[in-house]
Amino acid sequence: MYLRGAKSVTAFDINPLTEYLFYLKKAALDANLTKEEYLDYFCYRGTDNHTIFQNRLIKPFDIRIFDKIAPNLKGNSYKFWIDLYNKYSFSTIRESARLFNSDEYFRDTLEHTVAYLDDDNFEKLKEVSKNIKITFINKDIKELVLGKNYDLMYFSNIIQYASFMFF
Ligand SMILES: C[S@@+](CC[C@H](N)C(=O)[O-])C[C@H]1O[C@@H](n2cnc3c(N)ncnc32)[C@H](O)[C@@H]1O
Repeated sequence: MYLRGAKSVTAFDINPLTEYLFYLKKAALDANLTKEEYLDYFCYRGTDNHTIFQNRLIKPFDIRIFDKIAPNLKGNSYKFWIDLYNKYSFSTIRESARLFNSDEYFRDTLEHTVAYLDDDNFEKLKEVSKNIKITFINKDIKELVLGKNYDLMYFSNIIQYASFMFF
């Protein structure tokens, strides 16, 4: 949304951990990762073509990339990810169906459908990212009360969960 010129963004999610994931992604942009490193780090499915770093294969949530990201994390997000990395190996943290849903898109699909993963947009987003702030509301959509008007509301694919919300 910021890449497309939004002046202020509010995000809501029933899952409190989405805020920590957002700040991890923002910190990765602020760490000036290359797009390859960013995808190597965040993409879980379709990862065979990972780059070699210091003669070793880069894996999702690789500690060597996390070490570059971590200095850009702050407050509770810093504490959350540092605690996890201290307690568990990175492959355990990123294992499918633990912190993340197992029905993830393939790297290749993401690269060709997510607007900010276009080469030029990715570089622009790194610039924009430094100055963005997001207000998080940790609420079930059924209890969401908004105190102001918005030009655009984007519901991602929350409809995917409709059967859990409306029996
Ligand atoms: C497919 S994910 C989208 C994540 C992210 N917004 C994005 O666009 O990449 C859908 C999100 O809907 C959230 N969700 C599911 N049921 C919800 C509910 N009742 N109220 C609010 N959020 C809900 C999930 O926690 C999940 O993060």
